[in-house]
Amino acid sequence: MSKPIISAKKITKSFGQTQALRGVSLDVEAGEVLAIMGPSGSGKSTLLHSLAAITKVDSGEIEFDGQRIDTMNDDKRSMLRRTSFGFVFQFGQLVPELTALDNVALPLLLNGIKREEAYQRAKTWLNNVELASKANSMLGELSGGQMQRVAIARAMVIEPKVLFADEPTGSLDSLNSEKVMELFIKTAKEHGTTVIMVTHEPTIAAYADREIIVRDGQISGAEAAVNPAQTRADKAKVRIV
Ligand SMILES: Nc1ncnc2c1ncn2[C@@H]1O[C@H](COP(=O)(O)OP(=O)(O)OP(=O)(O)O)[C@@H](O)[C@H]1O
Ligand SMILES: [Mg+2]
Repeated sequence: MSKPIISAKKITKSFGQTQALRGVSLDVEAGEVLAIMGPSGSGKSTLLHSLAAITKVDSGEIEFDGQRIDTMNDDKRSMLRRTSFGFVFQFGQLVPELTALDNVALPLLLNGIKREEAYQRAKTWLNNVELASKANSMLGELSGGQMQRVAIARAMVIEPKVLFADEPTGSLDSLNSEKVMELFIKTAKEHGTTVIMVTHEPTIAAYADREIIVRDGQISGAEAAVNPAQTRADKAKVRIV
């Protein structure tokens, strides 16, 4: 394995009496698509949020691109999230009162990119997710699958190093889930983006290069190292060449 882009060593996190993470160590390679699976309440979201510098861990170390993020102050953590990380979560980050295009341009505007350039790049990304025709639709007028594609465009528009996704297709039916995942993995592979995603669905995890299972706050057993040549992630890579 080449040098990991994210490396966690023995991280722990408790919420009151609940030990959500009990010493998790994990290396993620640059460009890798990793699926985190496991039962409800096992600590998957807590792990994702810890790696993404959203949640502060109680002990252990986390490095991103050679920098310690567990010891970083809040300003630096938030800067890192805005510039290097993308997020696709099931709820939240989209603004229903704005158009699809405004939603995608927003992260760039927040990063101080000039309006004209921000909107140009946002248009390109809406196009990449095959939603150019919906640019001026209010978010509330879109279907669930279309909204999820807007969320992908919005996460990718800053060209993040790592894209974090928590149940990215959780509210979609299986046909739409497949379509959204294919697009998601294809765009990530095209741009060399590392993807760390939490999912309950084995069919969604099958898009990853590697799956890990979290049980009771720990990574369970040997990491299931799938043969990369046989993953859908790799097929997506081949298709787009
Ligand atoms: N902010 C919080 N405050 C208190 N307890 C929390 C908090 N976040 C998580 N927990 C607890 O930590 C444990 C792990 O939660 P986490 O959300 O990581 O689980 P999960 O594996 O993502 O579950 P699910 O599949 O249901 O989303 C659970 O027992 C949960 O109740
Ligand atoms: Mg969760």
